[in-house]
Amino acid sequence: MGTILTVSGVTGGIGKTTVAVNLCAALALYEKKVLIIDCDPRASATSWLGKTDAAHGRSLSSVLKKKTSFPDAIVKTRLAWLDLVPADFNLFTAARSLSGKAAGPALLKQMLHQQVGSLYDYIILDAPPGFGFLNMMALTAGHGLIVPIRLHRTSDTDCQCLLKLIHYIRKIHHTPLRIAGFVVNACENSSDIQAFPEKTRFNRLSDLVFHTRIPEDHTVIRAMDHQVPVVLEDINAPAGKAFLQFATEIDSIFSHQKEDPETRPGPDKLSMAKTSPPKMVDIRERSSEKVEQLAANIADMINEINQSEQA
Ligand SMILES: Nc1ncnc2c1ncn2[C@@H]1O[C@H](COP(=O)(O)OP(=O)(O)OP(=O)(O)O)[C@@H](O)[C@H]1O
Ligand SMILES: [Mg+2]
Repeated sequence: MGTILTVSGVTGGIGKTTVAVNLCAALALYEKKVLIIDCDPRASATSWLGKTDAAHGRSLSSVLKKKTSFPDAIVKTRLAWLDLVPADFNLFTAARSLSGKAAGPALLKQMLHQQVGSLYDYIILDAPPGFGFLNMMALTAGHGLIVPIRLHRTSDTDCQCLLKLIHYIRKIHHTPLRIAGFVVNACENSSDIQAFPEKTRFNRLSDLVFHTRIPEDHTVIRAMDHQVPVVLEDINAPAGKAFLQFATEIDSIFSHQKEDPETRPGPDKLSMAKTSPPKMVDIRERSSEKVEQLAANIADMINEINQSEQA
């Protein structure tokens, strides 16, 4: 079973799609088999990857409506190791019909485990913002949660809401939902970064902030316009390098048993890249045990919030 990571948060516009698409592309350059699932009816990740329509039932909405199986909904991207399940606006109606059903939020998790979990090293879900059904479904499906934060836009209230949402999902859907980490996105300078944790509840979660920071970089916007991941737009751009490092950091936490290279799909992943990515570096500072331990500590913080509200 591959690792399912949900890129989510309650805040809009903080870089969830940017992180999801570009982390996937960087992992794919490192020859990890990756599936990105667009869980947002606005289809931002789908369009970023150059897929503008979800033709022939190749969409998450068709899968959720059980008109298409997961494997049949997968489309190829420019990167041989990266596949996509596109979103379209029908996802909104699919979500509306599922949201009344008790088992609805767990449906995606169940289908992923049964149909595609063993085919990929990583399955990454790009969730919409807020508290709606689709975000809940994406959060319920994940083994781990990656939360992008922006220094001047992510508030203490955002953090508090996120922790409450995690608590709710853990309780109602009986899932461990671990926070894999917070990734600082679009940061301008390091003094900002140092000041940030002091200002909010995130200071108590600072051990969960990934080492990699994604810089503010115009290449991100250019790549989005050109409908290619940052590593294909300019692998040497600051954001390109950061996403490669982030892939390394993620893989060091969720590393997999290596499969027989003979059985893996043939690589042509570098055909669009301007230079080869550096070798994957082993970052051992955050082992999976540490992530587990940190995730457990979050439960204490959630309890504190609940108690202070009841008092
Ligand atoms: N590191 C970055 N450097 C420059 N621009 C960025 C960076 N990260 C994100 N952006 C820009 O910020 C905008 C919002 O990013 P993105 O769509 O990834 O956020 P989101 O959290 O997915 O939004 P939503 O909540 O609407 O789904 C986009 O225009 C994107 O190009
Ligand atoms: Mg988005």
